Amino acid sequence: QNARIKIDVDRTIGEVHEHLYGNFTEHLGRHIYGGIYDPDSPLADEDGFREDVLEAVKGLNVSILRYPGGNFVSNYHWLDGVGPVEDRPTRMDLAWDVLETNHFGTNEFMEFAKKVGTEPYFAVNLGTGTIEEARRWVEYTNIEEGPYYAELRKKHGYEEPHDIMYWSLGNEMDGHWQMGHLNAEDYSKKALEAAKLMKWTDPRIKLIAAGSSNYYGEDADPDHWNRTILHELQDYIDYISLHIYVGNEDDDYYDFMASPRVMEDRTQVVRGMIAEIMQDPERTVEDDMIYIAWDEWNVWYRQRGATGGSGYNALEEKYNLEDALVVAGFLNGFIRNADIVKMANMAQLVNVIAPIFTNEEDLFLQSIYYPLQLFAQNAHGTALDVYVDSETYNTDVYNSGAGYSATRQLDVPYLDVSATYNDDGKVVINVVNRHKDEAITADILSQQGIFDGPFEVYEVNGPDIKARNDFNNTRVKTTRKDDLNVSGESFEYTFPAHSFTMIIGE
Ligand code: AHR
Repeated sequence: QNARIKIDVDRTIGEVHEHLYGNFTEHLGRHIYGGIYDPDSPLADEDGFREDVLEAVKGLNVSILRYPGGNFVSNYHWLDGVGPVEDRPTRMDLAWDVLETNHFGTNEFMEFAKKVGTEPYFAVNLGTGTIEEARRWVEYTNIEEGPYYAELRKKHGYEEPHDIMYWSLGNEMDGHWQMGHLNAEDYSKKALEAAKLMKWTDPRIKLIAAGSSNYYGEDADPDHWNRTILHELQDYIDYISLHIYVGNEDDDYYDFMASPRVMEDRTQVVRGMIAEIMQDPERTVEDDMIYIAWDEWNVWYRQRGATGGSGYNALEEKYNLEDALVVAGFLNGFIRNADIVKMANMAQLVNVIAPIFTNEEDLFLQSIYYPLQLFAQNAHGTALDVYVDSETYNTDVYNSGAGYSATRQLDVPYLDVSATYNDDGKVVINVVNRHKDEAITADILSQQGIFDGPFEVYEVNGPDIKARNDFNNTRVKTTRKDDLNVSGESFEYTFPAHSFTMIIGE
């Protein structure tokens, strides 16, 4: 089959915020301990960080990193994790059914964030925590000197404030699984008071409300949740966070390939709710805009519940090629909605539903590492509204393994495309060929000016859709193809079956 892709640099969607390429670090399984932090390992640096992990994380250009949870944060008391390590208490982590030593906390995380060059994004405990505890954390991290908690930070060896600018008001508070779960009205009241105190402590901070994560089951009412919290928190928040996990439990390749569209559908619904808030004449859009932060997203369906859903090896999902294509589909979807989605955090980073996987001696890069790396390194600037003419398919009912969604998807194009354009005139075209068996040849047309090669081409692919990587065995990866010598108004490219291709040119 043949397809057409039209690139028009005048048809723009919005700035691609660098925070679309963020990740998430939770105290969960071997993410922190045995993942990024392992002071007893011969691979650790002087601060206890695994040097091989640092390198792999740097390769992802992680723009913003969420911490410390996740479900973990809803019973986390940050004071447990600061000060001399020998004085820190060991606590029961009820979220993941392990003991938490608190050897790693706020200051260790900030050391890690500095080493990998990422923006920190903290979530406060609005489950079992109080609004005052949340406020004090902002004082500890952001106030230069004077009040008790700023001075405590200095006593702990950190003279300068950490200046953490992004704070989320709890995590997944709409979920019955959350410690201290609240209904929408009660969450709004608590989050509003926390927000007030946190902003009064440091007016510079940006606040993220915990939007919907619960889409399934009797207690799920995501629209009521999102509409209520947007309405109640509108004067304080800068973002509403949304979460999505998808999976392929039924082993239905084409359903699974369409799953990122569920994220786009939900984005449209919340976009409308934000528009409703914004039509208030008292508001000026520039000052008050509320954006969407997809601050947890990924494929996650194998290691859940009784099989790998808790304990010291929790959520050690091993990813294959089809998962990598779905990840590329999510990233395409974020770019297509770049005017309203200004943050996205792949959950997570190391070992736990993660692009990087370690054992005591080594690490390997999972299949999903490669598309994320290509996007994070190259897809910047302005998102373009791309015209795509490609054959389509319908999925019956998309039912993610995560149990979060059941959505019929119609007219799913085999070629899933996004594009960005930057000030240097560089255009980046991102194409997932969802077809399992067929290569698809596309005419790629420039609607403004001419293409002027050579174009770089990168392809993520592998021997088959179930191929996955392991230690010393990289079956799915990025391959740089021959440059394309393009000049003129169009060129033709053949996208191989089940592949992701990034074309970079001018
Ligand atoms: O990322 C794993 C878990 O998924 C997080 O702790 C929680 O927020 C979500 O349910």
